[in-house]
Amino acid sequence: MADSFKLSFAPFARLRGVLITFCAENLKFGSATQKALSPIGDLVRRAAAADRFTGKNGSTLDIIAPAGLGAPRLVVVGTGKESGFKDRDLVKLGGVAMGKVPISAAQTTIFAESAAGAFKSDQVVDLALGVRLRAYTFDRYKTKRKEGEERADKVEVNFACANPAAAERAWARKSAVADGVVMARDLINEPANVLYPGEFARRASGLRRLGAVVDVLDVAAMRKLGMGALLGVGQGSAHEPKVVVMRWNGGKRDLAPIAFIGKGVCFDSGGISIKPAQGMEDMKGDMAGAACVVGLMHALAARKAKVNAIGVIGLVENMPDGKAQRPGDIVTTMSGQTIEIINTDAEGRLVLADVLHYVNKRFKPRFMIDLATLTGAIMVALGQEYAGLFANDDKLAERLTKAGEATGERVWRMPLGAEYDKIIDSKFADMKNTGGRWAGSITAAQLLQRFVGKTPWAHLDIAGTALGSPQTDINKSWSAGWGVRLLDRLVADHYER
Ligand code: BES
Ligand code: MN
Ligand code: ZN
Repeated sequence: MADSFKLSFAPFARLRGVLITFCAENLKFGSATQKALSPIGDLVRRAAAADRFTGKNGSTLDIIAPAGLGAPRLVVVGTGKESGFKDRDLVKLGGVAMGKVPISAAQTTIFAESAAGAFKSDQVVDLALGVRLRAYTFDRYKTKRKEGEERADKVEVNFACANPAAAERAWARKSAVADGVVMARDLINEPANVLYPGEFARRASGLRRLGAVVDVLDVAAMRKLGMGALLGVGQGSAHEPKVVVMRWNGGKRDLAPIAFIGKGVCFDSGGISIKPAQGMEDMKGDMAGAACVVGLMHALAARKAKVNAIGVIGLVENMPDGKAQRPGDIVTTMSGQTIEIINTDAEGRLVLADVLHYVNKRFKPRFMIDLATLTGAIMVALGQEYAGLFANDDKLAERLTKAGEATGERVWRMPLGAEYDKIIDSKFADMKNTGGRWAGSITAAQLLQRFVGKTPWAHLDIAGTALGSPQTDINKSWSAGWGVRLLDRLVADHYER
C-alpha cells in the first residue's frame, strides 16, 4: 500500500481525480450520478454499446479522458441489481472499483450511489472497506519498481455521499476492522526470519496503545504452568516460544469473557518428521490463526466494542535439531493428560492443547473459538472456499455459519464423534498426536476437544483459506487475513451489549 493512503467523505458535488460511479443493469444510474455525468451527454451510452457493457454485477466500463468532465478517467462499475445489497456485495463492489484505479493515480472520487439512490452510511463504509482491502499490497521488501509500476506517494480516495459526517463516524468503526485485516495480512506475509515468536509477541503488545491489556508468558512461566506439549514443539528452535494473552474489557464488568485462541507456528519445518522442500516456504504462514486473533483484538479494541474478549496465541517455531523432540516421545500437557508424539509435523494440535486448557482454566470463558492452519487434509476436503468448522455447540456453530454468509468468509461444519475419537487412543500414553491418513482433519479436532472440557467451543481449520489465498476483488495478497471480518461480525451480531 502507498505510504499514505487516505479515505475521505464529501457531499455529492465534489469531484476530483479519477471518477468512479455505479450503475445497475440496463445502464440505470442514480440521480446524483446522472447530474454529475450530464456534461458528457450520451458518451457513456455510446461507450457502453461499443463495449457491450450493460451494468452486470462486477463488470466495468472504462472511459479515458472524457471530454467535458474534467476527470482523467471515468469508470462505471456495474451493480447488477438496483438495491438489496448484502454487506459482502458492497465490500466486493468497493474492491472492484479500487481495482480500476491506476496505481499512479493520486486522487479518486467514488460516487456512493446505486440506481435506487444514495448508499446509506453503513453501505458507504462497506464500499470503503473493500477499497482499503483491495489497495493493500505487501511490498516492504521490494527495493525496486518496474517501469510503469510507479505508485503515487499519496493516494486519496474520496467518497461523494449523502451524509459525509455520518459516513465519517461509521468509518471510525469500520476502519478498525479494515486495520485489523491489514494487520493480520502483514503478520502472515512477513517472513519467519523477521517474525519469530519474540517479534510476534512484541507486535501483539502494540495493542496496549488501544487500551488492551497484554501479557507475555515466557518459557519459565510456561514451565511453571506445565505446558509440556507446547514447550516440546518449541524445544528444537533457537527462538524461544511465547504465549501472548490479550484482553479487551469493553463489556459489563462481571461478565465472563469470550475467548479466541490462535495457532502461532511462526515456521513449520515439520521438525524431525521434516516436510518435503517443495512449498515449505509457505510454512512461514503457519501462524495465520494467531495473526487473525491479533487482528480481531485490534478491531475490537480500536472500535471500542462493548464486549469482554480475550485473545490468546501460542507462538513457537517447529524445527529439526539435536534438541528437537522425536517421534515416540511422550509429553505431559498442562491438563495432566499425556500425548505420544507419532509425527512431529502434527505440532499445531500440541500447541493448542495447552493453550485451550490454559484459557479454559484461567478465564472460564463463555465460549472458546480457536483458529489454526491445522491440517492439509482440510484442503483436500474443502479447498480454499470454506474453512472447516468443528464444534461441540450447535448454537455457536450456527452463528459462525451465518456470520460467514454475511461476510463471505464462509465455514463448513464437519463431524466429531466417539468413533473418530478412539482413533487417537495410544498404546503408551493417553492419546497420540496423529490418527493416520483417514479423516485427518477430524482426528486433529478430536484431540483439541479433549482439552476444552464442557465449555462451548468451535475450531476453525483455516489451512485452506488463510494462505496462498485466492485472488479476489478484495485481495491481491498472498494472505487475505481470513477470519478477522468473520469473527468481528460474530461479536457485533451476538455478544455486544
Ligand atoms: N501446518 C501444517 C498444516 C498445513 C499444511 C497448513 C498445508 C497449511 C498448508 C500442519 O502442522 C501439518 O503439518 N499437518 C500435517 C499433520 C499430519 C502429520 C498428521 C498434515 O496435514 O499433513
Ligand atoms: Mn506441521
Ligand atoms: Zn503446522
